[in-house]
Amino acid sequence: MKIVFATNNKHKLLEVQHILPKVYALFSLKDIGFTSDIEETGTTLEDNSDIKAQTVYNWLKDNKITKYNAVFADDTGLEVDALGGKPGVYSARYAGEPANDKNNRQKLLHELKGIKDRQARFRTVVTLIINGKTYQTEGRVEGKIDTEEHGTEGFGYDSLFIPENYNCPFACLKSEEKNRISHRAKAIENLVKLLENKDIK
Ligand code: IMP
Repeated sequence: MKIVFATNNKHKLLEVQHILPKVYALFSLKDIGFTSDIEETGTTLEDNSDIKAQTVYNWLKDNKITKYNAVFADDTGLEVDALGGKPGVYSARYAGEPANDKNNRQKLLHELKGIKDRQARFRTVVTLIINGKTYQTEGRVEGKIDTEEHGTEGFGYDSLFIPENYNCPFACLKSEEKNRISHRAKAIENLVKLLENKDIK
């Protein structure tokens, strides 16, 4: 089955390539020749995930490209309890435009300075469009925000997010381990359940 992942984020792509069973052939936006920027104008992860998937699905339809069986998108946010769920849907641009991971991490550490409650979660919302129908599912992982950066693996907020039952952030873990327990791993497991559901084929 040929599936388009509506992303150009090479980190997300690599993770999903490892998580998704090999019966699914994965194609990025670059692979399919989609070069426009998709504006994430939604106010929830659900909205932005849907916007990305619908935009690419419609583009394939408009260009009469029929060789792909399905399209999906991932929108991810880091929800910090002490900040009322922020940065959440605004995680990518938390420190302002243009998006910059290092500045985002610094801003997060600054906002949490002196705050004891560091509880947070990563949440990934996946939107799947197959046979003209849209489905959403999600994956989440609970954890807490470290008081300084640790580790060199991963991307984004990985050097600050300590998953539940661990004592070091995602960036200290081997990619295989992150891909076993992460929000994205859980979201992709749920995506596979949807794809395997005979009713949607
Ligand atoms: P988006 O889903 O591409 O909008 O990502 C939102 C923000 O969360 C970006 O700043 C990403 O770098 C960050 N992000 C997304 N997924 C992860 C992850 O698995 N680990 C760490 N940061 C992530």
